[in-house]
Amino acid sequence: NLKALADNKDYVDICELRLDLLSPSEVAKAADFPSMVDIPVILTLRRVSDGGKCTLQEKARRSLLIDTMKNGGFSYVDIEDDVKKSDVEEAAHSLGMKVIRSYHDFEGVPADIFSRVHSLASRGDVAKIAVTPHNTADVMTLFRINEELKDVPKIIIGMGEWGVATRILYKKMGSILTFGSNGKAVAPGMISARELKLLYRADQLNDNTGIYGIVGNPVMHSLSPQIHNPGFHKIHYNAVYVPFLSESIRSFLTLAEMLRMRGFSVTVPFKVDVVKYLGNITREVKQIGSCNTVVRVPNMWKGTNTDYYGFIHPIEKEIDDGRIKSALVIGAGGAAKAIVWALKMRTVKVMIVNRTKSKADELARLYGVGSDSLDNISQYEGKVDLVVQATNMGLHPYEDVNPAEKFHFSGKEIAYDIVYKPKYTKFLLAAEKAGCSLKFGWDMLMEQGKLQFESFTGYHYPKDIEISM
Ligand code: ATR
Repeated sequence: NLKALADNKDYVDICELRLDLLSPSEVAKAADFPSMVDIPVILTLRRVSDGGKCTLQEKARRSLLIDTMKNGGFSYVDIEDDVKKSDVEEAAHSLGMKVIRSYHDFEGVPADIFSRVHSLASRGDVAKIAVTPHNTADVMTLFRINEELKDVPKIIIGMGEWGVATRILYKKMGSILTFGSNGKAVAPGMISARELKLLYRADQLNDNTGIYGIVGNPVMHSLSPQIHNPGFHKIHYNAVYVPFLSESIRSFLTLAEMLRMRGFSVTVPFKVDVVKYLGNITREVKQIGSCNTVVRVPNMWKGTNTDYYGFIHPIEKEIDDGRIKSALVIGAGGAAKAIVWALKMRTVKVMIVNRTKSKADELARLYGVGSDSLDNISQYEGKVDLVVQATNMGLHPYEDVNPAEKFHFSGKEIAYDIVYKPKYTKFLLAAEKAGCSLKFGWDMLMEQGKLQFESFTGYHYPKDIEISM
């Protein structure tokens, strides 16, 4: 525990000693723990029914807590909602400690959550609620607690992936603190103390902090928080960028309005669905039919598409030079659509090949380009300047798949893969072996992110920011 704390000392201002997670020999020394660390300590002995490991009888459990506290030094003791006996509280108060009254729900969010917080607060110095949201409405309920119970000292935590925003925006929720892990993935949705402090700067957020984010399902793997948060920090822009898991764009927009969000990114599967909720869209959004960037303008949301720009920017020079006049696009999904549109705009001649030929035909008809089955891909060998891998094959967990396996590069083509992780996909490795020059999904990702950052802030994305996968 001391080692974990030492490793994280720059990221934590308070820590919790979980007696139930210690070995018997560590428990014997626990009373001295506060004297070994220089931050406040919360003492907790969690029962199995509340997600802990303590199997002691209730009386013995309370005795162990009192015994551990008696040397003084602890700042808080955590005692559960249903504990009626007041011996722990009396001991704590006599030692000048504060009592956290806690309630856990690993299944959901209780219907009586407001009155629960109120009653917890009346029986302790701080009310702690750790519950499990399962949808956007649950998350909104947690954010609303502070509207109703603003002056109650509290800690409100949404557990699991749905609760991520409640941990990052803990100040917005009126919580006096939030919990971060020591870097190990202890539970879904639990962010490390390091990320909370260095990436999200959760402890620096205030009433003026602009809230931005990304909505998707799934969303936790997204690299966008790693792009936008350091960007905000570098230009001293008071804002935070948070991942939001959502079941629908419609429910997310209710939350976004409640949080007065200033803008958000949209990812799979909502890029098409979001368009109908936007009051103002750009020509690209209209023509591509999908939107990845939304900003708040007076009384409405405005949508733009930076995906197409992210794609075209890395090959802009080659198009201008006339090195790219024709392209073979593999795939006919959402990503391919923006790519074909972008190439068409730049008057590049496009041929689409797809596993399901009818989808290639449909996309080709829309933009007036050629189409064929992926099975015929070798027919285009030596005939195109650019080959774009625009499916999600190659992306983890499909690293071993190269949809263009049958295609033999001549070495003169430029090969471009939209997959950014891994950087060198099987498709790009095959192209490199043949002597092709390569374009990476990583650069596409960064370019769309930078333009998105400009839409959000009105400023250029700062230079010299290191982003790692
Ligand atoms: P995205 O928005 O990432 O483009 P999508 O709309 O689901 O995702 O499209 C996925 C693309 O990857 C499609 O072109 C799909 O081909 P089908 O239209 O035949 O489904 C392509 N794809 C998926 N798995 C594939 C595989 N194993 N081999 C070749 N193409 C594949």
